[in-house]
Amino acid sequence: MSETSDSRAQRLAAESLAAGSPTAWFETLYDAAGRGAAEIPWDRGAPHPLLAEWLVQHAGEAAGADRTAVVPGTGPGHDAELLAALHFRTTAFDVSPTAIERVRAAHPDSAVDYRVADLFALPPQWRGAFDLVVEVMTVQSMPRTVRAAATAAIRSLVAPRGVLLVIGGVLPADPDPDYGPPWRLTHAEIEAFAADDLALEALDHGPDGLRYRAEFRRSRLLADTTSAIERTPC
Ligand SMILES: C[S@@+](CC[C@H](N)C(=O)[O-])C[C@H]1O[C@@H](n2cnc3c(N)ncnc32)[C@H](O)[C@@H]1O
Repeated sequence: MSETSDSRAQRLAAESLAAGSPTAWFETLYDAAGRGAAEIPWDRGAPHPLLAEWLVQHAGEAAGADRTAVVPGTGPGHDAELLAALHFRTTAFDVSPTAIERVRAAHPDSAVDYRVADLFALPPQWRGAFDLVVEVMTVQSMPRTVRAAATAAIRSLVAPRGVLLVIGGVLPADPDPDYGPPWRLTHAEIEAFAADDLALEALDHGPDGLRYRAEFRRSRLLADTTSAIERTPC
């Protein structure tokens, strides 16, 4: 029986982990996809619906002119392209050079600044530099052994008064904690983004109940009445 795209990803991840790297398998997969030998299982062909929904619900904030956004683990780039279309000055990065090569080729006229970068070795100038951080399924694509480091690295990108969206799949009721990818986040792991003056403001689920979107904000926003943001409850 031939491998599905999900089982191929799981096999490549297992081999990568056995060799001591939680992330090397992404480059292997994107390289195989470039040769037509694999599919990218997470390529939805469109922005994530829970990101698109949030941007509609927060139309005031979604007009991104002069605001910065970043998409860690950008993959096919659909979320980054949506943010750039809304005039966010958008940076999107991925650890896989082939992923970045592919996304640049797919969007030759893009306004997005696509970079090869590792979440675990971020450029220092990105610390606290982004008004909107959009994390979609990247942390859950890494094993729990690196979860705390990945969570802290994502959090470090959020600017004062900035927003972090964490979007992922809901953990099954009876999960095998070691089986993945994906290694979906527990409720406690979602809440763990709320540290260093970032606070969890909302946790919403998609209509199918299989996906969630957590919204965090730097608490300094609450003290800043001159730039208070009007929010529509989700
Ligand atoms: C499950 S995919 C999600 C891609 C994209 N966010 C989406 O929703 O379509 C995870 C992505 O994170 C990237 N990635 C994994 N580890 C990374 C790291 N340490 N630094 C940056 N990107 C990483 C992978 O190459 C892959 O493109």
